[in-house]
Amino acid sequence: MSADTGISASTKPKPTIMPSGIVTPEKGLYVLQRLNSLLGHEEHLTSTQDGLLRKWGGAFAPLDMREARLMVENAGEMYFVLRSYKNNTPGTPLVVAEATILDVNGDPQKLVQTHPKYNHIVRPSTWQLSIDPEGDTAIFLQLTTLEEESRRRGIGSVSRSAVFYYTLPPHVRFVLTTTPVSDKFNFEGITRLPTRKLDEMLGRNYPTVNFHYRAGAEIAGYEAKYKEPAPTRPKMQGRQNYEDVVFMLYRRLANGDWLGIARPTNVARWL
Ligand SMILES: CC(C)(COP(=O)(O)OP(=O)(O)OC[C@H]1O[C@@H](n2cnc3c(N)ncnc32)[C@H](O)[C@@H]1OP(=O)(O)O)[C@@H](O)C(=O)NCCC(=O)NCCS
Repeated sequence: MSADTGISASTKPKPTIMPSGIVTPEKGLYVLQRLNSLLGHEEHLTSTQDGLLRKWGGAFAPLDMREARLMVENAGEMYFVLRSYKNNTPGTPLVVAEATILDVNGDPQKLVQTHPKYNHIVRPSTWQLSIDPEGDTAIFLQLTTLEEESRRRGIGSVSRSAVFYYTLPPHVRFVLTTTPVSDKFNFEGITRLPTRKLDEMLGRNYPTVNFHYRAGAEIAGYEAKYKEPAPTRPKMQGRQNYEDVVFMLYRRLANGDWLGIARPTNVARWL
């Protein structure tokens, strides 16, 4: 039992994904940290929990600070936060990213076979992640630019590239996203569109799919109701309550780079 939170942490040993270490940012404008860097900085953890809850609602975000601390304690190894960095001090949390690793060969069908619902990957009751540290595929569970007015200024892209290059072990060769879309998304029709039309249509109607597509990810699969809330979770809704999911696929090249994604130059790893 942790003295300050009164919450029992999982007794399951936490897998070591990447060695932790401090890389002091020299010219970085941002730092990427594990979410547990916010423990002890109550105002930052509170604003993060609040931002996630506003976006994702009670089914997929910590309902309160008790759950936020549980999430950090039990799954903190794979929750990341991008923070501003000024005067040698990490500042406000800007973007939160959440990932896990599974052995599904970048194949959405295999993911759905082994984990038929999003809830089977993330268990909000204990806030633990299914994880196979030896797996070849990182599942991007969530990427959230916390403040609506901060969107389209590049920090979502910065966070994506920092997570890809700084946190994923070399044996991970694929990233699959779980991108929620409205029930109007027509997977078969959309994947048959010629590139220019697809480009236009995604830009107009599906900004988050467009975010990944423009960076070079393929539309690799789709599953209706994949993000169906667990019946045990409170019905509190967030701005994003789509249940259908598009799986976008990123690939790693033989030289270790991610196809379409440049190494970040303005963000320091500080895990
Ligand atoms: C997806 C998300 C993380 C992008 O964050 P961001 O900080 O806006 O990202 P960037 O500024 O780096 O990238 C913006 C790109 O995303 C796409 N995009 C984002 N919002 C868009 C919008 N409202 N309309 C059209 N395209 C949009 C565009 O391709 C845009 O590039 P452009 O500005 O050159 O046209 C953010 O929109 C978000 O938090 N969305 C809600 C949470 C969510 O649904 N996440 C699921 C991701 S799997």
